[in-house]
Amino acid sequence: MCGIVGAIAQRPVTEILLEGLSRLEYRGYDSAGLAIINADQHLQRERAVGKVVALKNKLKSKPLIGLLGIAHTRWATHGKPAERNAHPHVSNNRIAVVHNGIIENYEVLREELKAEGYQFESDTDTEVIVHLIEKAESQGMNLLEAVMSIKTRLRGAYALGVISNDEPDHLIIARHGSPLVIGLGLGENFIGSDIQALLPVTNRFIYLENGDTAQISRYEIALYDVTGESVERDIVQSNASMGSCELGEYRHFMHKEIFEQPQAIQATLDGRLEADAFVNCISGTTANGQTAQQVLKEVDEIQIIACGTSYHAGLIARYWIESMTDVPCNVEVASEYRYRRQPPKKNLLVITLSQSGETADTLAALEKVKQTGCLATLSICNVPESSLTRESDFTLMTLAGAEIGVASTKAFTTQLVALQILLGLLMQAKQADQAKIEHLITGLKQLPLLVEQVLDRDTAIETMAEDFIDKNNALFLGRGEQYPVAMEGALKLKEISYIHAEAYPAGELKHGPLALVDNEMPIITVAPNTVLLEKLKSNLEEVRSRGGVLYIFADKAAKIAKQDNIHIIEMPAIPESIAAIVYSVPLQLLSYYTAVFKGTDVDKPRNLAKSVTVE
Ligand code: G6P
Repeated sequence: MCGIVGAIAQRPVTEILLEGLSRLEYRGYDSAGLAIINADQHLQRERAVGKVVALKNKLKSKPLIGLLGIAHTRWATHGKPAERNAHPHVSNNRIAVVHNGIIENYEVLREELKAEGYQFESDTDTEVIVHLIEKAESQGMNLLEAVMSIKTRLRGAYALGVISNDEPDHLIIARHGSPLVIGLGLGENFIGSDIQALLPVTNRFIYLENGDTAQISRYEIALYDVTGESVERDIVQSNASMGSCELGEYRHFMHKEIFEQPQAIQATLDGRLEADAFVNCISGTTANGQTAQQVLKEVDEIQIIACGTSYHAGLIARYWIESMTDVPCNVEVASEYRYRRQPPKKNLLVITLSQSGETADTLAALEKVKQTGCLATLSICNVPESSLTRESDFTLMTLAGAEIGVASTKAFTTQLVALQILLGLLMQAKQADQAKIEHLITGLKQLPLLVEQVLDRDTAIETMAEDFIDKNNALFLGRGEQYPVAMEGALKLKEISYIHAEAYPAGELKHGPLALVDNEMPIITVAPNTVLLEKLKSNLEEVRSRGGVLYIFADKAAKIAKQDNIHIIEMPAIPESIAAIVYSVPLQLLSYYTAVFKGTDVDKPRNLAKSVTVE
């Protein structure tokens, strides 16, 4: 959470910083701010509550002009969204800091600094950093030395950008836990929380390692590792395009991204399927040189770790993996896994799933796994060069393109595609029945077209969503692998429409949720033509006979008749192997249209952020 941008150039940097902030807004959008060093070597700052546009409007009437600056968009952790809590934070009117992360020991540091006479303007954990730097500088250190010296005082996670009006020719950055990247220009250099922020100005990047500090000038980057030794880091040329961040004809990024799913799925499949085999597309090796194929042969247990929507993708994959192989698979949310003791397992493959590759809990869980020991770690991720891919032995990329809407859609379905590819490779390594492998391939090849056919039901789903405008609660039901599909449907609805929604395995209805059923509680369910269809139909009758109103996405073969209290949208015939992927799509659209009708901020729902880089 929180986005950082910085620039040192031969031209005024304010526009570059504001464009960068807009592109980072998915990380937080409750307030924004910017600080520059002007031609008179004075530090100037402007901040505004709300989205980046509020800051832009302020700057129109009161422009800040300078060749060096830092900027920030905030997702509040310590201190409510308010101008005084917005970054950059300033000390003694001469040093400014932007920060992403959380300083866990800020209370102790704050008391110490207060006792020394420092006055605090904000309720943030960040303000201690800028005063600590000021203190070190006033004792005779230059800015780089000051930043390096205070790092030992900070506990927690941080990515920092620091400027001082005494040193107008460079900015200092530091990274521990939270991501930070340097963008390389010609006679100008930049920093950002991710490369998206900097794509308008460069496509050459240096990713900071944990513990790194750097001094960034117009022509020079001096990097230091965690021990303070001078170090070189690779320059990475990115092929990412800026275009994917444009809305085009769509009103919201979420709608656009839902409709991009056929292409995103196709891109994730391209070159990875032959007629009768999955092509190895897992990159990397283990520390002792084992390839993915060797690891997949040896693995006798899988642990999937993820958060949010990615966690739901993991839950669906468990059904697939355990039904097609003899490899047991556990799935757990990262925030729990990281603090739970697990016995080391020799032949355990740990899979982390993440759209961003920067989710703090997932990264911490991976770190823990590496300490406990396992056969290998593999990340399924949408962002090349993200922290997760760099920390894992193996990587299998999803190729969804940039996802801007906070509610994940195309990243989720492409994760499911990647998980099926991984399943296929695992089956090949375990010498599973060839017919079963080919069955998986046949299903995947039909997937982009089937998703397109579901998207054709857009208008019918929009009409259905009108029924949800005045609802406060909703219940989602599914059986088998459709249960996590229902969980994802409920998450989508609550994230963007703020309707309280819960998901249950349909067989559990009678153990509690049936008590909630009345005509005010819409019940949404997905009914593909699978072995559990008849069981599901019995559960739906239990609901209907108690006056519940059902909204069902059903296979024609389900033969559920339209009657009072039953609203059905018929789905195309879908192979069971890919049903969970295809049936996720109408639930995305239902949430989307409900949110649009309710007038919520679809792409930036309240209190949330797309990339959760704090614990
Ligand atoms: C946030 C986002 C979700 C996402 C989750 C995990 O909560 O709003 O859309 O599913 O983080 O993110 P990751 O990048 O690890 O998939």
